[in-house]
Amino acid sequence: FHVDDDASASEKGAYEFFMLKEIDEQPGVIRGLEQTYLAEDGSVKLADDMMNALNQADRLYIVAAGTSYNAGLVGKSIFEKLAGVPTEVHIASEFGYNMPLLSDKPLFIFLTQSGETADSREVLSKVNQLGYESLTITNVPNSTLSREATYTMLLNAGPEIAVASTKAYTAQIAAETILAKGLGMLKQTAAAADFETGFELTKAANAIQSLVDQKDVVEGLAQKYLGTTRNAFYIGRGIDYQTAIEASLKLKEVSYVQTEGFASGELKHGTISLIEENTPVIAIITDPKTAALTRSNEQEVISRGASVINIVAEELATAEDQIVLPEVHPLLTPLAAIIPAQLLAYYTSKERGYDVDKPRNLAKSVTVE
Ligand code: G6P
Repeated sequence: FHVDDDASASEKGAYEFFMLKEIDEQPGVIRGLEQTYLAEDGSVKLADDMMNALNQADRLYIVAAGTSYNAGLVGKSIFEKLAGVPTEVHIASEFGYNMPLLSDKPLFIFLTQSGETADSREVLSKVNQLGYESLTITNVPNSTLSREATYTMLLNAGPEIAVASTKAYTAQIAAETILAKGLGMLKQTAAAADFETGFELTKAANAIQSLVDQKDVVEGLAQKYLGTTRNAFYIGRGIDYQTAIEASLKLKEVSYVQTEGFASGELKHGTISLIEENTPVIAIITDPKTAALTRSNEQEVISRGASVINIVAEELATAEDQIVLPEVHPLLTPLAAIIPAQLLAYYTSKERGYDVDKPRNLAKSVTVE
Protein backbone atom coordinates (compact mmCIF):
# COMPACT_ATOMS: atom_id res chain seq x y z
CA PHE A 1 0.00 0.00 0.00
CA HIS A 2 1.14 3.48 -0.74
CA VAL A 3 -0.53 6.45 0.91
CA ASP A 4 0.11 9.86 -0.60
CA ASP A 5 1.69 12.38 1.72
CA ASP A 6 -0.91 14.54 3.32
CA ALA A 7 -0.85 18.07 1.98
CA SER A 8 -0.30 20.77 4.56
CA ALA A 9 -3.30 21.69 6.65
CA SER A 10 -3.29 25.22 5.25
CA GLU A 11 -4.28 23.93 1.82
CA LYS A 12 -7.57 22.91 3.33
CA GLY A 13 -8.27 26.57 4.00
CA ALA A 14 -11.53 26.87 5.92
CA TYR A 15 -12.39 23.22 5.32
CA GLU A 16 -12.21 20.62 8.06
CA PHE A 17 -11.62 17.86 5.50
CA PHE A 18 -10.31 17.69 1.94
CA MET A 19 -13.30 15.62 0.86
CA LEU A 20 -15.69 18.55 1.22
CA LYS A 21 -13.22 20.93 -0.44
CA GLU A 22 -12.90 18.53 -3.37
CA ILE A 23 -16.69 18.13 -3.62
CA ASP A 24 -16.96 21.92 -3.84
CA GLU A 25 -14.26 22.12 -6.53
CA GLN A 26 -16.26 20.07 -9.03
CA PRO A 27 -17.99 22.86 -10.99
CA GLY A 28 -14.61 24.52 -11.56
CA VAL A 29 -13.00 21.25 -12.66
CA ILE A 30 -15.68 20.71 -15.30
CA ARG A 31 -15.35 24.27 -16.57
CA GLY A 32 -11.57 23.75 -16.74
CA LEU A 33 -12.05 20.65 -18.92
CA GLU A 34 -14.28 22.68 -21.24
CA GLN A 35 -11.58 25.35 -21.53
CA THR A 36 -8.85 22.81 -22.22
CA TYR A 37 -10.63 20.54 -24.67
CA LEU A 38 -13.31 22.60 -26.42
CA ALA A 39 -12.61 25.18 -29.16
CA GLU A 40 -14.61 28.42 -29.43
CA ASP A 41 -16.87 26.87 -32.07
CA GLY A 42 -17.65 23.99 -29.70
CA SER A 43 -15.53 21.41 -31.54
CA VAL A 44 -13.31 19.04 -29.58
CA LYS A 45 -9.58 19.81 -29.34
CA LEU A 46 -7.84 16.45 -29.03
CA ALA A 47 -4.82 15.10 -30.91
CA ASP A 48 -5.64 13.83 -34.41
CA ASP A 49 -3.59 10.63 -34.09
CA MET A 50 -5.44 9.72 -30.89
CA MET A 51 -8.85 10.46 -32.39
CA ASN A 52 -7.97 8.45 -35.51
CA ALA A 53 -6.95 5.48 -33.35
CA LEU A 54 -10.27 5.68 -31.52
CA ASN A 55 -12.13 5.98 -34.80
CA GLN A 56 -10.50 2.85 -36.17
CA ALA A 57 -11.48 0.74 -33.17
CA ASP A 58 -14.52 -1.50 -33.55
CA ARG A 59 -14.96 -1.72 -29.77
CA LEU A 60 -13.77 0.21 -26.73
CA TYR A 61 -12.61 -1.62 -23.61
CA ILE A 62 -12.64 0.56 -20.51
CA VAL A 63 -10.47 -0.90 -17.75
CA ALA A 64 -10.36 0.56 -14.25
CA ALA A 65 -10.72 0.02 -10.49
CA GLY A 66 -12.86 1.49 -7.74
CA THR A 67 -14.48 4.83 -8.41
CA SER A 68 -12.76 5.05 -11.80
CA TYR A 69 -14.49 1.79 -12.78
CA ASN A 70 -17.80 3.35 -11.76
CA ALA A 71 -17.03 6.35 -13.99
CA GLY A 72 -16.41 3.80 -16.75
CA LEU A 73 -19.89 2.34 -16.26
CA VAL A 74 -21.33 5.78 -16.99
CA GLY A 75 -18.86 6.18 -19.88
CA LYS A 76 -20.24 3.08 -21.59
CA SER A 77 -23.62 4.77 -22.03
CA ILE A 78 -21.96 7.97 -23.22
CA PHE A 79 -19.71 6.27 -25.81
CA GLU A 80 -22.48 4.02 -27.09
CA LYS A 81 -25.09 6.78 -27.32
CA LEU A 82 -22.95 9.69 -28.61
CA ALA A 83 -20.37 7.84 -30.70
CA GLY A 84 -22.27 4.64 -31.54
CA VAL A 85 -19.31 2.43 -30.57
CA PRO A 86 -19.87 -0.78 -28.57
CA THR A 87 -18.13 -0.31 -25.24
CA GLU A 88 -17.27 -2.81 -22.52
CA VAL A 89 -16.26 -1.89 -18.99
CA HIS A 90 -14.01 -4.18 -16.99
CA ILE A 91 -12.64 -4.39 -13.46
CA ALA A 92 -8.86 -4.25 -13.90
CA SER A 93 -8.06 -7.01 -11.39
CA GLU A 94 -10.42 -9.37 -13.25
CA PHE A 95 -9.49 -8.42 -16.78
CA GLY A 96 -5.76 -8.98 -16.29
CA TYR A 97 -6.15 -12.69 -15.64
CA ASN A 98 -9.50 -13.49 -17.25
CA MET A 99 -9.40 -11.62 -20.52
CA PRO A 100 -12.60 -11.93 -22.55
CA LEU A 101 -12.61 -12.72 -26.25
CA LEU A 102 -11.51 -9.45 -27.86
CA SER A 103 -12.96 -7.83 -30.98
CA ASP A 104 -10.86 -7.49 -34.17
CA LYS A 105 -9.80 -3.91 -33.46
CA PRO A 106 -10.02 -3.20 -29.75
CA LEU A 107 -8.91 0.05 -28.21
CA PHE A 108 -8.27 0.18 -24.48
CA ILE A 109 -9.16 3.11 -22.27
CA PHE A 110 -7.62 3.15 -18.81
CA LEU A 111 -9.46 5.39 -16.37
CA THR A 112 -7.32 6.17 -13.35
CA GLN A 113 -7.11 9.13 -11.03
CA SER A 114 -3.59 8.32 -9.85
CA GLY A 115 -2.21 6.61 -12.94
CA GLU A 116 -0.49 4.13 -10.60
CA THR A 117 -3.06 1.45 -9.74
CA ALA A 118 -1.25 -1.90 -9.97
CA ASP A 119 -4.28 -3.83 -11.24
CA SER A 120 -4.62 -1.45 -14.18
CA ARG A 121 -0.87 -1.40 -14.85
CA GLU A 122 -0.89 -5.18 -15.12
CA VAL A 123 -3.60 -5.03 -17.80
CA LEU A 124 -1.80 -2.29 -19.71
CA SER A 125 1.41 -4.26 -19.84
CA LYS A 126 -0.52 -7.23 -21.29
CA VAL A 127 -2.26 -4.96 -23.79
CA ASN A 128 1.13 -3.60 -24.82
CA GLN A 129 2.50 -7.12 -25.25
CA LEU A 130 -0.45 -7.92 -27.49
CA GLY A 131 0.39 -4.83 -29.57
CA TYR A 132 -2.89 -2.94 -29.06
CA GLU A 133 -3.21 0.83 -28.72
CA SER A 134 -4.41 2.42 -25.50
CA LEU A 135 -5.49 5.70 -23.99
CA THR A 136 -5.04 6.60 -20.33
CA ILE A 137 -7.39 9.20 -18.87
CA THR A 138 -5.73 10.33 -15.65
CA ASN A 139 -5.31 13.16 -13.21
CA VAL A 140 -1.55 12.70 -12.88
CA PRO A 141 0.75 13.72 -15.74
CA ASN A 142 3.72 11.39 -16.27
CA SER A 143 2.17 8.70 -14.09
CA THR A 144 3.03 5.13 -15.00
CA LEU A 145 -0.25 4.44 -16.79
CA SER A 146 0.15 7.67 -18.71
CA ARG A 147 3.73 6.93 -19.77
CA GLU A 148 3.05 3.35 -20.80
CA ALA A 149 -0.14 3.97 -22.80
CA THR A 150 -0.11 5.10 -26.43
CA TYR A 151 -2.13 8.26 -25.66
CA THR A 152 -3.02 10.32 -22.59
CA MET A 153 -5.90 12.65 -21.78
CA LEU A 154 -5.42 14.66 -18.58
CA LEU A 155 -8.22 15.47 -16.14
CA ASN A 156 -6.51 18.56 -14.69
CA ALA A 157 -8.66 18.25 -11.57
CA GLY A 158 -5.87 19.37 -9.22
CA PRO A 159 -4.52 17.08 -6.49
CA GLU A 160 -7.16 14.83 -4.96
CA ILE A 161 -6.13 14.25 -1.35
CA ALA A 162 -9.15 12.62 0.30
CA VAL A 163 -9.01 8.85 -0.12
CA ALA A 164 -12.64 8.80 -1.26
CA SER A 165 -12.60 10.03 -4.85
CA THR A 166 -15.10 12.76 -5.77
CA LYS A 167 -13.83 15.32 -8.27
CA ALA A 168 -11.91 12.70 -10.25
CA TYR A 169 -15.19 10.81 -10.82
CA THR A 170 -17.07 13.78 -12.25
CA ALA A 171 -13.96 14.88 -14.20
CA GLN A 172 -13.70 11.40 -15.74
CA ILE A 173 -17.35 11.53 -16.83
CA ALA A 174 -16.85 14.99 -18.34
CA ALA A 175 -13.68 13.81 -20.13
CA GLU A 176 -15.51 10.74 -21.50
CA THR A 177 -18.26 13.06 -22.74
CA ILE A 178 -15.78 15.26 -24.61
CA LEU A 179 -14.03 12.22 -26.08
CA ALA A 180 -17.33 10.62 -27.14
CA LYS A 181 -18.45 13.86 -28.79
CA GLY A 182 -15.18 14.07 -30.75
CA LEU A 183 -15.45 10.44 -31.80
CA GLY A 184 -19.13 10.76 -32.69
CA MET A 185 -18.34 13.74 -34.93
CA LEU A 186 -15.70 11.67 -36.77
CA LYS A 187 -18.29 8.92 -37.15
CA GLN A 188 -20.93 11.50 -38.13
CA THR A 189 -23.52 10.26 -35.67
CA ALA A 190 -26.69 12.31 -35.36
CA ALA A 191 -26.44 12.10 -31.57
CA ALA A 192 -23.01 13.76 -31.57
CA ALA A 193 -24.10 16.45 -34.03
CA ASP A 194 -27.06 17.30 -31.77
CA PHE A 195 -25.02 17.32 -28.55
CA GLU A 196 -23.72 20.78 -27.63
CA THR A 197 -20.87 19.79 -25.35
CA GLY A 198 -20.03 23.22 -23.95
CA PHE A 199 -23.64 24.08 -23.27
CA GLU A 200 -24.40 20.72 -21.63
CA LEU A 201 -21.25 20.60 -19.49
CA THR A 202 -21.80 24.18 -18.35
CA LYS A 203 -25.37 23.31 -17.43
CA ALA A 204 -24.08 20.31 -15.45
CA ALA A 205 -21.45 22.48 -13.70
CA ASN A 206 -24.18 24.95 -12.73
CA ALA A 207 -26.38 22.12 -11.46
CA ILE A 208 -23.49 20.86 -9.29
CA GLN A 209 -22.98 24.38 -7.96
CA SER A 210 -26.60 24.67 -6.95
CA LEU A 211 -26.46 21.24 -5.23
CA VAL A 212 -23.30 21.99 -3.26
CA ASP A 213 -24.97 25.22 -2.18
CA GLN A 214 -27.69 23.14 -0.46
CA LYS A 215 -25.38 21.28 1.91
CA ASP A 216 -27.55 21.94 4.95
CA VAL A 217 -30.43 19.90 3.54
CA VAL A 218 -28.16 16.91 2.90
CA GLU A 219 -26.47 17.23 6.29
CA GLY A 220 -29.90 17.10 7.93
CA LEU A 221 -30.84 13.97 5.98
CA ALA A 222 -27.54 12.28 6.90
CA GLN A 223 -28.16 13.00 10.57
CA LYS A 224 -31.78 11.86 10.46
CA TYR A 225 -31.43 8.66 8.42
CA LEU A 226 -27.80 7.55 8.38
CA GLY A 227 -26.36 8.54 11.77
CA THR A 228 -26.76 5.14 13.42
CA THR A 229 -27.98 2.68 10.78
CA ARG A 230 -26.08 -0.56 10.18
CA ASN A 231 -26.87 -0.79 6.48
CA ALA A 232 -28.38 1.15 3.60
CA PHE A 233 -29.29 0.72 -0.06
CA TYR A 234 -29.07 2.90 -3.12
CA ILE A 235 -31.42 1.94 -5.94
CA GLY A 236 -31.94 3.11 -9.51
CA ARG A 237 -32.44 1.89 -13.06
CA GLY A 238 -30.30 2.39 -16.15
CA ILE A 239 -27.92 5.30 -15.74
CA ASP A 240 -29.36 5.89 -12.24
CA TYR A 241 -28.25 2.38 -11.34
CA GLN A 242 -24.70 3.29 -12.47
CA THR A 243 -24.87 6.35 -10.21
CA ALA A 244 -26.25 4.19 -7.38
CA ILE A 245 -23.17 1.95 -7.55
CA GLU A 246 -20.79 4.88 -7.09
CA ALA A 247 -23.11 6.46 -4.49
CA SER A 248 -23.01 3.27 -2.42
CA LEU A 249 -19.22 3.01 -2.69
CA LYS A 250 -18.89 6.59 -1.38
CA LEU A 251 -21.13 5.93 1.61
CA LYS A 252 -19.59 2.60 2.60
CA GLU A 253 -15.97 3.67 2.26
CA VAL A 254 -16.13 6.73 4.50
CA SER A 255 -18.98 5.88 6.93
CA TYR A 256 -18.56 2.06 7.24
CA VAL A 257 -22.32 1.70 6.76
CA GLN A 258 -22.77 -1.51 4.81
CA THR A 259 -24.24 -0.15 1.59
CA GLU A 260 -25.10 -1.70 -1.75
CA GLY A 261 -26.16 -0.14 -5.02
CA PHE A 262 -28.93 -2.14 -6.66
CA ALA A 263 -30.86 -2.15 -9.89
CA SER A 264 -34.20 -1.27 -8.34
CA GLY A 265 -36.11 -3.99 -10.19
CA GLU A 266 -33.67 -6.61 -8.95
CA LEU A 267 -34.22 -5.93 -5.22
CA LYS A 268 -37.32 -8.13 -5.15
CA HIS A 269 -35.31 -11.11 -6.43
CA GLY A 270 -33.61 -11.69 -3.11
CA THR A 271 -32.15 -8.59 -1.53
CA ILE A 272 -35.47 -7.22 -0.30
CA SER A 273 -35.19 -9.82 2.47
CA LEU A 274 -32.65 -7.49 4.10
CA ILE A 275 -35.11 -4.62 4.45
CA GLU A 276 -36.08 -4.04 8.08
CA GLU A 277 -37.82 -1.32 10.06
CA ASN A 278 -36.02 1.98 9.25
CA THR A 279 -33.49 0.55 6.77
CA PRO A 280 -32.56 3.59 4.63
CA VAL A 281 -33.23 3.11 0.92
CA ILE A 282 -32.04 5.98 -1.25
CA ALA A 283 -33.57 6.10 -4.72
CA ILE A 284 -32.06 7.95 -7.67
CA ILE A 285 -34.73 8.84 -10.21
CA THR A 286 -33.80 10.84 -13.32
CA ASP A 287 -35.15 8.78 -16.22
CA PRO A 288 -38.78 9.41 -17.22
CA LYS A 289 -38.96 5.94 -18.84
CA THR A 290 -38.43 4.14 -15.55
CA ALA A 291 -39.38 6.67 -12.85
CA ALA A 292 -42.76 5.06 -12.15
CA LEU A 293 -41.19 1.60 -11.94
CA THR A 294 -38.59 2.72 -9.40
CA ARG A 295 -41.27 4.48 -7.40
CA SER A 296 -43.28 1.28 -7.29
CA ASN A 297 -40.16 -0.61 -6.13
CA GLU A 298 -39.93 2.00 -3.38
CA GLN A 299 -43.46 1.22 -2.28
CA GLU A 300 -42.40 -2.42 -1.90
CA VAL A 301 -39.63 -1.45 0.54
CA ILE A 302 -41.73 1.17 2.33
CA SER A 303 -44.33 -1.50 3.07
CA ARG A 304 -41.53 -3.52 4.74
CA GLY A 305 -40.63 -0.55 6.94
CA ALA A 306 -37.82 1.11 4.96
CA SER A 307 -37.11 4.85 5.30
CA VAL A 308 -36.84 6.32 1.84
CA ILE A 309 -34.77 9.25 0.62
CA ASN A 310 -35.41 10.38 -2.96
CA ILE A 311 -32.90 12.10 -5.23
CA VAL A 312 -35.06 13.10 -8.19
CA ALA A 313 -34.76 15.11 -11.42
CA GLU A 314 -36.73 18.35 -11.36
CA GLU A 315 -39.16 17.29 -14.09
CA LEU A 316 -40.08 14.11 -12.16
CA ALA A 317 -40.09 15.50 -8.62
CA THR A 318 -43.02 15.62 -6.21
CA ALA A 319 -43.40 17.71 -3.07
CA GLU A 320 -42.30 14.73 -0.92
CA ASP A 321 -38.95 14.20 -2.67
CA GLN A 322 -36.16 15.38 -0.39
CA ILE A 323 -33.50 16.24 -2.98
CA VAL A 324 -34.37 17.75 -6.36
CA LEU A 325 -31.76 17.83 -9.12
CA PRO A 326 -31.63 20.80 -11.50
CA GLU A 327 -32.17 19.80 -15.12
CA VAL A 328 -29.17 18.39 -17.00
CA HIS A 329 -28.83 16.44 -20.27
CA PRO A 330 -30.12 12.85 -19.82
CA LEU A 331 -26.64 11.40 -20.49
CA LEU A 332 -25.09 13.61 -17.81
CA THR A 333 -27.47 13.01 -14.91
CA PRO A 334 -24.76 11.14 -12.94
CA LEU A 335 -22.84 14.43 -12.73
CA ALA A 336 -25.73 15.93 -10.78
CA ALA A 337 -27.12 12.89 -8.96
CA ILE A 338 -23.78 11.88 -7.45
CA ILE A 339 -23.37 15.22 -5.64
CA PRO A 340 -26.00 14.68 -2.90
CA ALA A 341 -24.63 11.14 -2.52
CA GLN A 342 -21.09 12.44 -2.02
CA LEU A 343 -22.44 14.90 0.56
CA LEU A 344 -24.49 12.21 2.33
CA ALA A 345 -21.33 10.10 2.61
CA TYR A 346 -19.32 13.05 3.90
CA TYR A 347 -21.85 14.13 6.53
CA THR A 348 -22.54 10.56 7.67
CA SER A 349 -18.83 9.99 8.26
CA LYS A 350 -18.54 13.32 10.06
CA GLU A 351 -21.66 12.62 12.14
CA ARG A 352 -20.11 9.34 13.26
CA GLY A 353 -16.89 11.10 14.21
CA TYR A 354 -14.54 9.49 11.67
CA ASP A 355 -11.50 10.89 9.92
CA VAL A 356 -13.36 11.48 6.66
CA ASP A 357 -10.23 11.86 4.54
CA LYS A 358 -8.52 8.72 5.77
CA PRO A 359 -10.98 5.86 6.13
CA ARG A 360 -9.67 2.72 7.78
CA ASN A 361 -8.04 0.02 5.63
CA LEU A 362 -8.01 2.18 2.48
CA ALA A 363 -5.24 3.82 0.48
CA LYS A 364 -5.48 6.61 -2.08
CA SER A 365 -3.47 4.69 -4.59
CA VAL A 366 -3.15 0.91 -4.44
CA THR A 367 0.13 -0.21 -5.96
CA VAL A 368 -0.15 -3.91 -5.15
CA GLU A 369 -2.30 -6.40 -7.07
C1 G6P B 1 -8.15 3.11 -4.52
C2 G6P B 1 -8.81 4.39 -4.06
C3 G6P B 1 -10.10 4.64 -4.84
C4 G6P B 1 -9.83 4.63 -6.31
C5 G6P B 1 -9.15 3.33 -6.75
C6 G6P B 1 -8.67 3.40 -8.19
O1 G6P B 1 -8.91 2.01 -4.12
O2 G6P B 1 -9.08 4.33 -2.68
O3 G6P B 1 -10.65 5.90 -4.47
O4 G6P B 1 -11.04 4.80 -7.02
O5 G6P B 1 -7.99 3.09 -5.94
O6 G6P B 1 -7.67 4.38 -8.28
P1 G6P B 1 -7.24 5.10 -9.58
O7 G6P B 1 -6.13 6.02 -9.15
O8 G6P B 1 -6.75 4.05 -10.55
O9 G6P B 1 -8.42 5.83 -10.13
